[in-house]
Amino acid sequence: MNKRFDMPYPYGWFQVALSQDLAAGESRPLRYFGEEMVLFRTEDGQAKILDAYCPHMGGHLGYGIRKEPGQGGEVRGDTIVCPFHGWRFNGEGQCEEIPYATHMPPRVADKQCVMKSWPVQERNQMIWMWYHPHNEPPHYEVEAVEEFDPENGEWGEMEIHTFKVKTHCQEMAENGADPAHFRYVHGVAEFPASSMGFDGGHRRQGKVDAPMETPRGVVDGSIEFVCNGPGQSYTRFSGICETVEMGNVTPIDEEYVEYNAIFIQPRADEESASAGVARAIIKDICRQIEEDSIIWEHKLYREKPMLCDGDGPIAKFRKWYSQFYVE
Ligand code: FES
Ligand SMILES: [Fe+2]
Repeated sequence: MNKRFDMPYPYGWFQVALSQDLAAGESRPLRYFGEEMVLFRTEDGQAKILDAYCPHMGGHLGYGIRKEPGQGGEVRGDTIVCPFHGWRFNGEGQCEEIPYATHMPPRVADKQCVMKSWPVQERNQMIWMWYHPHNEPPHYEVEAVEEFDPENGEWGEMEIHTFKVKTHCQEMAENGADPAHFRYVHGVAEFPASSMGFDGGHRRQGKVDAPMETPRGVVDGSIEFVCNGPGQSYTRFSGICETVEMGNVTPIDEEYVEYNAIFIQPRADEESASAGVARAIIKDICRQIEEDSIIWEHKLYREKPMLCDGDGPIAKFRKWYSQFYVE
């Protein structure tokens, strides 16, 4: 593991794609948690994730032949076809057909799972994968956030900003338990007041008062966030203009994580005179992520930090986070 930190991957639900990027009958390679996988959507619309490597001779199911670049193996019905020799697998990892065989290998004939599959949920217009190092089934659910419900017409189109950051996802999450950095890293007007609650389970939530400097003077702002396990969080920014950010962190491998900052704002604001202000808020949050990234990419994880009374609940946060690690 990287010398700046040595935490393993946490278990939980992690965003691996946007629903809009995977039409029925499409597939593509996926690489997270240092694993090669294939994501596909069956012709009747179910998203599925399998180990990428075929049990036959190791073909990668995520790279189709004679297709547009970036397309994976062909999807037929509820199965994906290996591009190497045409074996067909369903989303549970059973082999449904070997087109040129007369005698099936015993595990295929027995309808056993011959490929690893990952639990998938589709919610908030996103596709989520359950990762557990021991392959335990999900311990909790992806949380539905009303503003991201595709049926909720009051909220506009999602705006997606993807960052690849050389750090560990725990380091990024610690940001929310660290009110002091808002002044020094992000230059907020005053030292912010904050609170954080842990419900003893997989959720934690917090609130930070964050006065914002604008051309019209300092405006009262507040940031309320919920973390649902290590992979999903959402933040409601209020003050100048309502904005909800879903901030999803997915480990790519032992060095990098992907951070998807997905914003949504009231449709009325998008179309009104305050559209410029709404845009400025998203730009400002992205600037903050870039500022945080400079810290994250270079800092060292201090197992025993030298803390003072003005610091946030770092120890409580770390204890909460450690529930997602298994030996
Ligand atoms: S390697 Fe997949 S069908 Fe042969
Ligand atoms: Fe920050």
